[in-house]
Parts: sequence; structure tokens; C-alpha cells
Amino acid sequence: MKIGGVEICGYASLVPLAGVADRAFREICAEFGASMFTTEMVSAKGLIYGDRKSEELMFLTQKERPAGIQLFCSSPEDIAKAIPLTEKFGPDFIDINMGCPAPKVTKNGCGSALLRDPELCGRIVAAAVKVSPVPVTVKIRKGWDAQHPTAVETARICAENGAAAITVHGRTREQMYAPPTDLDVIRQVREAVSVPVIGNGDVTDGASAEHMYRVTDCDLVAVGRGALGSPWIFAGITAYMKGETYQAPDIGERMAIMLRHAAKICEYKGERIGINETRKHAIWYTKGLRGKAELRRRMSEITNLAQLENIAAEIVEMNR
Ligand SMILES: Cc1cc2nc3c(=O)[nH]c(=O)nc-3n(C[C@H](O)[C@H](O)[C@H](O)COP(=O)(O)O)c2cc1C
Repeated sequence: MKIGGVEICGYASLVPLAGVADRAFREICAEFGASMFTTEMVSAKGLIYGDRKSEELMFLTQKERPAGIQLFCSSPEDIAKAIPLTEKFGPDFIDINMGCPAPKVTKNGCGSALLRDPELCGRIVAAAVKVSPVPVTVKIRKGWDAQHPTAVETARICAENGAAAITVHGRTREQMYAPPTDLDVIRQVREAVSVPVIGNGDVTDGASAEHMYRVTDCDLVAVGRGALGSPWIFAGITAYMKGETYQAPDIGERMAIMLRHAAKICEYKGERIGINETRKHAIWYTKGLRGKAELRRRMSEITNLAQLENIAAEIVEMNR
């Protein structure tokens, strides 16, 4: 599929995940064939006010391509001011967050709060397209709540105003992350617009990706939580879709990937911050393994990479 002129290959992209899918994680997912990447959400207002943290979130390398910068905003004016500030980071597209359910985002009229006003979504996309040198995409949910499933209307208006692709997470804001994901609404959006539609929600392996493709007729599947502690999910989905068998990494490889990931986090963020952030990933990488409770306790106490290497070696020994 194509987003504007940008070719997207493969079977599954990585969704934006604030606090998780940073440059280190995106690069690890790229190694396993993820199709496309998006930064953690960045506040348009924060950018306009010169917030340094917002700038750091937009750093993209050639190892994670095609890649978009995701912005959240509540007005056409803010998006129009923010997009020119993203240009120096070289995004392949700009994605507008219309799905975040977090109260700190929605209380300012951003994220999924926008779904209550599809016309405003259209004006935001129009303003973005007007100033953006790269394609503009949107990421929406099913709607604000069960009484207001505005996804189809929002998608149609966004496409009419120039959105080049639409990611749909099949849950309302009210549901947050609770099941079920509504695949029907993704199919309805697919039928309502002619631009590519990316299906999102609860894809955790090749079979659930294939189910998403078959039921919704989406152009691409996007994976979030299913990649936590298992970035090889992208290779698994690719194999499944091609009718090939996939051998997931064994315990030794799994720990080697975790250590490579941890080393990247520390390299990009410095060891002090990096180790803090590594702990949650380490716990995800070790889910389902023997000796979990004790391991979790020790992992939550690591202060350097050498300690993580020692724990990884013990895990490999224990789980052979
Ligand atoms: C920790 C976390 C952070 C997230 N951050 C973002 C974000 O920055 N932007 C966004 O559009 N969605 C964000 N989401 C939503 C995901 O992109 C995705 O739509 C959702 O997790 C459903 O997909 P999944 O079932 O594959 O996880 C986040 C979700 C989680 C769990």
C-alpha cells in the first residue's frame, strides 16, 4: 500500500506507544520486519512553545523507515503552527492523534475528544495538509462512547479533507483498552473511504493478524501491546501471512534481544534514565518464564546493564 507517495511494504506496522515505542524499541521492531513506524505522541502546543522533551521525541533515524511523527492538538491553528517545526526531523508522514483516551489529553480537547466533533477533525486535517510537505494521516477510535460511534463519519470527513490514510482502533474512548475490539467498525471505515485503512486492536500473532485482514479488509494491520517483550511478532505475522512456519526465538535468543534492546535504550538516553526505562521492558521480555516473581523483583532493582546481563544468563540457565 501507499501513504501518499510513500510505499509501505510488509504485513504489520508498529503503532505509536507513548513511553514505550521510542527510537530503541522501534529499531528493534524494524529488525523483525515491522512495516512502518510512528513516534510517541508529541504535543503540538508543546512544540510551539519550544519544549525540549517534545523535540527529543521526534528524532528519527534511517533504521526505522518509513516513519511518521504523531502530533496531538485541539485546533487547526495549532497543527498548522506545529507541522513546520517537525520538518527538520525528516518524517515520511505526519499522523494526527484522534484516539488517545488519557484524561490529561482529552481534557484539553485533544486525542479522542476530537471524535465528538468530526467537522473539527476535518478542519484540523485540512489545516495540516495545507502546510505539510509530507502526507498527513489520522489515527482514530470507534468513537467517544457507545452512544456516539463517530468513526465512519470522522474517517470520511478526514479523507475528504486530504488524509492519506486512516488507522482505526476498534474501541471507544469509554472502553479505554477493555475488550472487545470492534472489527465491524474497521470494515465500515474501509468501505466508506478510498484511502488506505490500517486496522488496529488486539493483534497478538499471525492468526489474529490474518483474522483482522479477512474480517475488515484493511490494507495493513497495526500492532501495539502484542509487540511488548516480543518484537519478533512482526516476523511471526509475516511468516503466517506467507503461509510459512515461524520459529520464535528460543530463550537464549530472547534474552540476547532483550539485552540488545536495553543497550540501545541506555545508549540513546544515558544509563541512568535508560536503566529506569529498561526495567519495564525486561519484565515484558520475561513474561511466562520460570522463576518469574523472584526475577521481577530483581529486575525492578537493577541499576546497570551488567546486572541485567547476569539475570539474563540465570534465566537462560533456568529455562533451558
Ligand atoms: C502504553 C501505551 C501507549 C500508547 N500511546 C499512544 C500514542 O502515543 N499515540 C496513539 O495514537 N496511541 C497510543 N496508544 C494506543 C495504541 O497505539 C493502540 O491503538 C492500542 O494499544 C490498541 O492496539 P493494541 O491492541 O495492538 O495494543 C498507546 C497504547 C498504550 C498501551
